Amino acid sequence: MLKGIRQRAIGSYVFLFSVFMVLTFLRSLGVVDLLTVLLGSFWATVVMAWLTNRRLISPVEQITSVAQEMAGGFLDAEIRVKGEEELDDLAWSINYMARELRKNLTVITEERNRARAILNSMADGVIALDKDGRVILVNPVVESIFNVKEEEWIGNQLIKVIRNHELEQLFIRALNSMQPVLNNELQVLTPEPRLFRVEISPLKGNQEEKMGVVGLLTDVTERRKLERMRSEFVANVSHELRTPLTSINGFVETLLDGAVEDPATAKNFLSIINAEGKRLANLIDDLLKLSRLEDRRSKLNKQPVDLTEVIDNTVKMFAPRAWEKNIELTGELPQEMPPVPGDQGFLSQVMINLVDNAIKYTLPGGKVKIKVNFSRDEVTVSVADTGIGIPPESLPRVFERFYRVDKARSREMGGTGLGLSISKHIVEAHGGKIWATSDEAGSIFSFSLPLQE
Ligand SMILES: Nc1ncnc2c1ncn2[C@@H]1O[C@H](COP(=O)(O)OP(=O)(O)OP(=O)(O)O)[C@@H](O)[C@H]1O
Ligand SMILES: [Mg+2]
Repeated sequence: MLKGIRQRAIGSYVFLFSVFMVLTFLRSLGVVDLLTVLLGSFWATVVMAWLTNRRLISPVEQITSVAQEMAGGFLDAEIRVKGEEELDDLAWSINYMARELRKNLTVITEERNRARAILNSMADGVIALDKDGRVILVNPVVESIFNVKEEEWIGNQLIKVIRNHELEQLFIRALNSMQPVLNNELQVLTPEPRLFRVEISPLKGNQEEKMGVVGLLTDVTERRKLERMRSEFVANVSHELRTPLTSINGFVETLLDGAVEDPATAKNFLSIINAEGKRLANLIDDLLKLSRLEDRRSKLNKQPVDLTEVIDNTVKMFAPRAWEKNIELTGELPQEMPPVPGDQGFLSQVMINLVDNAIKYTLPGGKVKIKVNFSRDEVTVSVADTGIGIPPESLPRVFERFYRVDKARSREMGGTGLGLSISKHIVEAHGGKIWATSDEAGSIFSFSLPLQE
């Protein structure tokens, strides 16, 4: 391309030389004087310099300055020159290159934004390291897990940012081996203890060359908690089922071994077997109730419920037992009460569980009192007793499944430790709250229900 320019430059030198030669020749013939030769040569040089500047130097300067702007990232700049044909071609090529770059840059930016959006909306944490172990990418989940901003991560060694030796070792192992590394239960302490499943995969280039590693951090704290609860639940259920069964088997074997011959012993054993059988059936009933409530399979059949009626019925139901145990069972109910939106059957179950406990855990001569209070938004029912009370450390646990303050004693009374947990489920399914307080004077179990749906 530059051939033409070079030829033109040589041409101009030849032209200047020719002008000089012609003038010198004319001078030797005496046609012109020395001043004319000098002036002629001078003007010829000036004209040539002007032409070179206009057609060559100034367009090149312009091209250089726009190219510098482009290099600085301003790809919208465009070269507009009029000069030598070759320079026009050069300008056109640079403009074309800038246009192509602009197009590619748009595609790359869009792709980067898409990848960012995916990373930002992920529920799992992502950390990518380059082959030297420096952080090249983290997503917002990772920032919040470790409470460290992205700027502090990028370009730094992992350990400098998070100080979790175990996690760092996993990344180092993956980087060194370039093989996937998995840890199902990594504990992260900052800012609060949580369990993560960490899966690190190698990043390889097109030629299988080592580029780094990328780690995925999945929070499994809740899942592990549920798994633990489930296995505890299975262990508890098996235990609770086995206890009455062992007792039934024991008495049946004794009967078979000859006790059946003695009618008094046989009757005693059979009544124990009967009671244990009933307990087993109750337990299975309770378990089914609980599982249906948890499954939300048994939908609440909500209707306006007259709570006074529910409480009256419960008092009537427990009156004989209270009388037998010499316990004063009373209800302090308002004259008028708005209906509560709820499931009558389930709400009766809550009342039965609370009054049953109050009588069960109160010694003869004690008192059990049911009270109702209501405001514009909610109604609160409380069952207070003068019973044995609940130690403060047990109070937060009494609503857990199978939790009993005194296991042996409660089991002796036929309790399975499911009553309060069922009640809690029912009250919460109604959008309400249930709680307990207790001291030496006795315990108060209360629940509140919203009056509006
Ligand atoms: N009014 C109360 N006074 C003292 N302790 C209580 C009272 N109510 C509950 N508790 C304690 O809370 C525990 C759990 O109560 P919950 O009603 O869930 O089970 P339970 O009464 O043992 O068995 P059941 O499943 O038959 O109701 C009881 O074992 C008892 O230790
Ligand atoms: Mg109970």
